[in-house]
Amino acid sequence: MGTLTREAAAREGAAAFFAGGESVNANDHHAAKIYHPGSLLSVEDLSVADVAEILATTSELEAMDVSARAKVLERRTLALLFYESSTRTRTSFELAAKSLGATTTLVSDKSSSIEKGESLKDTGLTLRALGAEAIVLRHPASGAPELLARVTGLPVLNAGDGMHQHPTQALLDLRTILLRLKRDAARVTADTLHGVTVVITGDIKHSRVARSNAMLLPRLGAKVILCGPEELLPEEASDLLAGNELPSGAGLEIVRDFDAALARADVAMMLRIQKERLLGTALDLGEYVKRYQLNEARLAQYPKLLVMHPGPIIRGLEIAGEVADSPQSAIEEQVAQGLAVRRAVLVRALGVRQ
Ligand code: CP
Repeated sequence: MGTLTREAAAREGAAAFFAGGESVNANDHHAAKIYHPGSLLSVEDLSVADVAEILATTSELEAMDVSARAKVLERRTLALLFYESSTRTRTSFELAAKSLGATTTLVSDKSSSIEKGESLKDTGLTLRALGAEAIVLRHPASGAPELLARVTGLPVLNAGDGMHQHPTQALLDLRTILLRLKRDAARVTADTLHGVTVVITGDIKHSRVARSNAMLLPRLGAKVILCGPEELLPEEASDLLAGNELPSGAGLEIVRDFDAALARADVAMMLRIQKERLLGTALDLGEYVKRYQLNEARLAQYPKLLVMHPGPIIRGLEIAGEVADSPQSAIEEQVAQGLAVRRAVLVRALGVRQ
């Protein structure tokens, strides 16, 4: 860092921030596309045409007769490999696979030979030897899905890696927004979200959901405003945006004042305060609630605002319980869209055409 100019250092810091912090070479996949084409490692790997195809397949699968749908992945085998807790992602991948007729097996770090020290590579090779044709992976290290895809050669679906990416969350959020705003979810184009402003508020620094959405939504025409205090949204991000160095930089902006951001929003995407990642930061939670909680008083000013949250929600912290339960909230719809979109991602991974 010592030999860098201040600007270069800021760029480097900001690039690391948008890449998702420390990693197992989280961006290696750009250098060489050596992964199975059915893999979904990052939203960066998806063209607008890819996104359109996934959402079109989602709609086709949704419209199918239940018994016909249960034959789509008949006799196919999927492994779910989870090194971190999950309710929504794990359950929806499992139910999605089962609704398509696939056999699933769940391996968790808490009840497997991972506890005895088996590596990610050896766990992946073991699952492959047992017949897994694709692996859904959640892992606390950024870049772990790339590593697993490289060593197994199987399609790997990133179910959230460290602070890096959560691509299926961004896809399900996109479909939720399109359906709520009554836009065509089966025919996505580069301006499908034209005129839509999404404010993402909270712990952006530690959020793979924010990173994936901030990369995906502007490419489809949305304006994305990132909002939060400096402890959770570092100033380096502004340097990067000001320099227009992000590929999607044109659609991104930072606004620190939550009320000013809400006044421009069509969608408010709230993020969980990740208390487990806040050690060493000077964040005052009481002050945070005052300045950034989406509460009833704020919501009352914007009766058309769509409220979203990837979950798990902490009622009374980033969002008031009454707001989470209000008709303006799409939180449960997001969960349901997780099931729908993950069916399409599984079909793509296993190379089945509708
Ligand atoms: N949104 C999300 O990833 O939730 P889970 O951690 O419950 O899977």
